[in-house]
Amino acid sequence: MKIAILPGDGIGPEIVAQAVKVLNALGESFEMETAPVGGAGYEASGHPLPEATLKLAQDADAVLFGAVGDWKYDSLERSLRPEQAILGLRKNLNLFANLRPAILYPELAGASTLKPEVVSGLDILIIRELTGDIYFGQPRGVRICPDGPFKGQREGFDTMRYAEGEIRRIAHVAFQAAQKRDKRLTSVDKANVLETFQFWKDVVIDVHKEYPDVALDHMYVDNAAMQLVRAPKKFDVIVTGNMFGDILSDAAAMLTGSIGMLPSASLDANNKGLYEPSHGSAPDIAGKGVANPLATILSAAMMLRFSLGKPEQADRIEDAVKKVLAQGLRTPDIYEAGTTKVGTVEMGAAVVQALS
Ligand code: NAI
Ligand code: MG
Repeated sequence: MKIAILPGDGIGPEIVAQAVKVLNALGESFEMETAPVGGAGYEASGHPLPEATLKLAQDADAVLFGAVGDWKYDSLERSLRPEQAILGLRKNLNLFANLRPAILYPELAGASTLKPEVVSGLDILIIRELTGDIYFGQPRGVRICPDGPFKGQREGFDTMRYAEGEIRRIAHVAFQAAQKRDKRLTSVDKANVLETFQFWKDVVIDVHKEYPDVALDHMYVDNAAMQLVRAPKKFDVIVTGNMFGDILSDAAAMLTGSIGMLPSASLDANNKGLYEPSHGSAPDIAGKGVANPLATILSAAMMLRFSLGKPEQADRIEDAVKKVLAQGLRTPDIYEAGTTKVGTVEMGAAVVQALS
């Protein structure tokens, strides 16, 4: 089994090193190859997604990705910025399904900004469509406004669109994920205002016929945002489009206390995937040895479960993470009085120690 390791920028290399350490401790024979991406790719070859890096990712069974981006590249033209690497990987590998579990570990209940009774026991899964919607729709740009009261002025415009097949495949992923959980799916849309999302809703209702054991409901995105902070435990699985999912999944991330705890999987139709923490490259703490590596380590566990067919190894990693939290070990982002503050490397080593 071949894993492409793309550490990237900022804290990326620090946290990915810990996940690799954990993978190496499992006693499996993975073939791992590392390549530069993002700002590191730009430095190495003049492009954030070097051809050799893309080829490595395409040939591998799974990709473990750190994070990309640094303020020092802000003055580059858009196509050369580090963030283009992750967009390019998603599009080239056809990674249309982004799975973000938001789980609150009981030991971290005090780290959330919400009341413990609102978030304790939280275990929800947000599924975001990742390669369509207004983020990719054409045409887009700045033009002279052709009509209305602002006719003749410049206007910016983008295009929201979803093809039926695009909605169907993400709906299947969502219904199947719900079948493995609490069998409840909430499809989030804005069908009251947007044609695209009335169509989304109609197609999801049609796909539901194939999954009669799953309870489906529909919620407008503004209400979903409200419910996520009011009563997040009412959800089980949420499925939504690219833009709504971007916003809702970041909001859900904060229910659990720290973005340093949240893994993600981005899958294609054959469960090949790219696995990365939900956070970015955190340039403000890069090089200090304090970044929380658990989101990346938990992403490696998702990789074992979804792409490498090793669910028992995924369980081992997740159990080890629970164990180190129960031992009271905390990186600064999740530190509370009475716990033990550790750095990135110590946290990685503790997870390796805790593997049964
Ligand atoms: P960020 O997620 O990198 O950081 C936000 C805050 O969370 C910072 O205070 C940071 O120190 C903290 N943080 C993040 N991860 C942490 C960890 N593992 N442990 C402890 N604290 C952690 O988001 P920000 O600051 O908006 O973006 C920084 C750079 O990352 C930008 O260049 C941005 O474009 C890029 N980015 C890349 C992503 C990716 O590679 N998929 C996703 C999001 C942002
Ligand atoms: Mg986001």
